[in-house]
Amino acid sequence: MSRDTQTGRGVSASASSDTLEELPADLSSLDLADPQTFLRYDQGELWRRLRAENPVFWNAPRDGRPGFWALTRYDDIMHVYRDSSTFISARGNVLAALLHGGDSAEGKMLAVTDGSRHRELRKVFVKAFSPRTISTVAEKVQENTESLVRSAVEVGSCDFAQDIAEKIPMRTICDLLGVPEPDQGELLILTKKALSAEDDQITEFDSILARNEILVYFSSLLEEFRKNPRGGVIGTFADAQASGTALSNEEIVLNCYSLIIGGDETSRLSMISSIPALVEHPAQWAALSSGSIGSQTATEEILRWTTPAMHFGRTTLKDTNVSGHAINQGDVVTLWNISANRDEAVFASPDVLNLSRSPNRHLTFGYGPHFCLGAELGRIEIRAMLDALCRFAADITLTDTPKRVRSNFLSGISSLPVKFTPRR
Ligand code: HEM
Repeated sequence: MSRDTQTGRGVSASASSDTLEELPADLSSLDLADPQTFLRYDQGELWRRLRAENPVFWNAPRDGRPGFWALTRYDDIMHVYRDSSTFISARGNVLAALLHGGDSAEGKMLAVTDGSRHRELRKVFVKAFSPRTISTVAEKVQENTESLVRSAVEVGSCDFAQDIAEKIPMRTICDLLGVPEPDQGELLILTKKALSAEDDQITEFDSILARNEILVYFSSLLEEFRKNPRGGVIGTFADAQASGTALSNEEIVLNCYSLIIGGDETSRLSMISSIPALVEHPAQWAALSSGSIGSQTATEEILRWTTPAMHFGRTTLKDTNVSGHAINQGDVVTLWNISANRDEAVFASPDVLNLSRSPNRHLTFGYGPHFCLGAELGRIEIRAMLDALCRFAADITLTDTPKRVRSNFLSGISSLPVKFTPRR
């Protein structure tokens, strides 16, 4: 079995080598905007070769889309994250927006806002994500996760993606926002459609429709919050005016949307991908479940290993250069965190899962002014899942071929049938 769960391989022999193609000798024909690229090739090999042979890679224009830069080395990526006045986020921070005319939420949604407005908005978010709020949500996460894992282990088998992982982050972010429980299931369906990563049947039109439905949903929820003020992040957003940073209804709705999208998929995919990682590294699983490796340190390695959000991107505001390559004003530069997290110049034996790895300076949550606001929450969710697995399961077996997500942004698995042996 392959050791590389970043590639989603090794879980079943037939799912891996039968379907993967050799990388081309000349990497210039690669297209990192094409979701199929990540299913076609072994990703470990893909990133290793790009880092070694073409670390500042020019992804040529194709099918009417513009070309873009793709950085794969840790230090180059850090250089861009650090220089947020040259490399800006406003025109979009993922390929889907950057190659299609920019992000319509420019200057309104936190992740695609720069400079002083970004700092103002971020202050409101930080207030909404106060340690007190997070610790209340964390308690619920632990209870919910324990109960889901305990039930699944008692039954003996489940689809880890659908029966466990799907039920944790969405509920967490909805609790944080103040979304009523009966609405949460529908929001999850809409989120999946909006990102269209897990189902080949979902068209671009379905995704746009789902995105609009989420926005309409949050508009009406905001109206309710204004009529009957309550707590939760939406409450803090609605209140922000009073504390000096006015947020328009549109800004509030767009930022709720971004929290749902950002808070659900990433944590969920990281949780799911951690299962093949543990199954394929029985000695690591044994050390974790016996307590000789702590779940806090293990969580960081799971985050590095799984890197659910493969890339983020920026637009170059003025002519510059990265590692001697001229980058022109207006160029799109993408930062492949998934590759940085396996950079042999930074991580010893990067392709070995080492749950006790420390220090672990992974870039899974990004870096700099846009560093993930939900990082603590993401960590809490993954750690709660590891703790619950250690508590209730003696062993985990994969019982079928996992179904991999098809996306140029997200990396992970959408269906993962497993069998548990309960801990006696
Ligand atoms: C494992 C889970 C997660 C991963 C891998 C992840 C990853 C990231 C990354 C890499 C960024 C930086 C984007 C950029 O530089 O353009 C980011 C930003 C952000 N994330 Fe996360 N995230 C996760 C969980 C969450 C959760 C649970 C929430 C919300 C509850 C959240 C909310 C945000 C927000 C609001 C931003 C924008 C911050 C800003 O622009 O100032 N994320 N995330």
